[in-house]
Amino acid sequence: MPQLAERMSRAVPSAIMAIAEKARRMKAQGRDIISFSIGVPNFLPGDHVYEAARNALTHDSGQYGSNRGPDALLDAFLVHLKRNGFEQFERKHLCYGVGAKHVIFNLMYAVIEEGDEIILPAPYWTSHIDIARILGAEVKIAQCGADQDYKLRPEQLRALIGPKTKLLIFNNPSNPTGMVYSEEEVRALGDVLVDSDIWIMSDDIYNQMIFDGLGWHHLLKTHPSLQDRVIVLDSLSKTYGMPGWRVGFAAAPESIAQALVTLNSNHITNLPEVVCAAAVAALTGPQDIPVRMCAEFALKRDEVMACFGRIAGLSCPRPQGAFYAFPDISFAFGKRHGESRIANDVDFCTALLEAEGVACVPGSAFGEPNGLRISYTCKASELTEGLRRFEAFCAALR
Ligand SMILES: Cc1ncc(COP(=O)(O)O)c(C=O)c1O
Repeated sequence: MPQLAERMSRAVPSAIMAIAEKARRMKAQGRDIISFSIGVPNFLPGDHVYEAARNALTHDSGQYGSNRGPDALLDAFLVHLKRNGFEQFERKHLCYGVGAKHVIFNLMYAVIEEGDEIILPAPYWTSHIDIARILGAEVKIAQCGADQDYKLRPEQLRALIGPKTKLLIFNNPSNPTGMVYSEEEVRALGDVLVDSDIWIMSDDIYNQMIFDGLGWHHLLKTHPSLQDRVIVLDSLSKTYGMPGWRVGFAAAPESIAQALVTLNSNHITNLPEVVCAAAVAALTGPQDIPVRMCAEFALKRDEVMACFGRIAGLSCPRPQGAFYAFPDISFAFGKRHGESRIANDVDFCTALLEAEGVACVPGSAFGEPNGLRISYTCKASELTEGLRRFEAFCAALR
């Protein structure tokens, strides 16, 4: 029988989807399940987005579209980039994709040769490592534990950059930890990067979700000279409540943007006109929804942290963005919950799901087995009840 390509042995299904699926199955069997597992925003885009989509449907050309993105959408990306303080980009620096995930895949495809090294701080987002591995990259992990607030330190970065390094993946605010880098922290990393010759993928898709008035700091602002090596990645999924619409984009050096266009031309060809019109409306229309959601997530973060503060032994660096928290649960290892022995993060999450019907993702899925990820975008009442159960579960550990 013909065989699959060797690279498929390196491709693994998403661990996040696996736990979400298990929770869904239990729910279908009648169990009362609260899911903190999947990172989706719990809101829909504004009416103006649907109106633009309906209007586009009425005038649909039915034709193939641009491989880079229609001009109206590229200009809307530019509006968004300018709002974020990036004045330097033009249409030729842009390319869209079927969500940021697709753009990330294409970007890595465009720059990585088999055996090239990439640097990835852990905890990492699962697809960052999975895509790199599918493409045959040698992933050099910088382990960034709770004791360093899950943030990459300049000395770690410096130690990992070598002659075979091709790419740094930098995600700020972070999925899965919700951590946000300060200006000094970004600057210190930039100081290391200016001395290197590697690509830097700045996965910025949570840039509209930053709490406590912290502000968002970027390598391109602290070190404008990195302009010819930094790829800015963004997406409408989380900011505008549009994950299913599948719109992501890169703002990059011209050669990279052109490579992404070439890959699109041999792959997806284009995004549908309806989707593009909806994306233009979201990016250029009223921006009150992201602002409101950010305020709501900050309050939910406070509730999560208040609960964690009551659990003896549990520690959690305070998230300052996105909608995730990543507590260190290693205090529970070696204990029992009823009949279940908790040896590690997977045991913890399995027992929590079975005993209390609360689904979280084990930290090992993100390269940090001392923790777990909570995504707190669910309804307020579910969050309160889920946290109550989480606390009860921890209190029953012996
Ligand atoms: C850090 C990060 N980058 C990229 C993505 C992909 O987003 P999109 O829905 O645009 O593919 C996600 C989605 O969860 C994410 O968390």
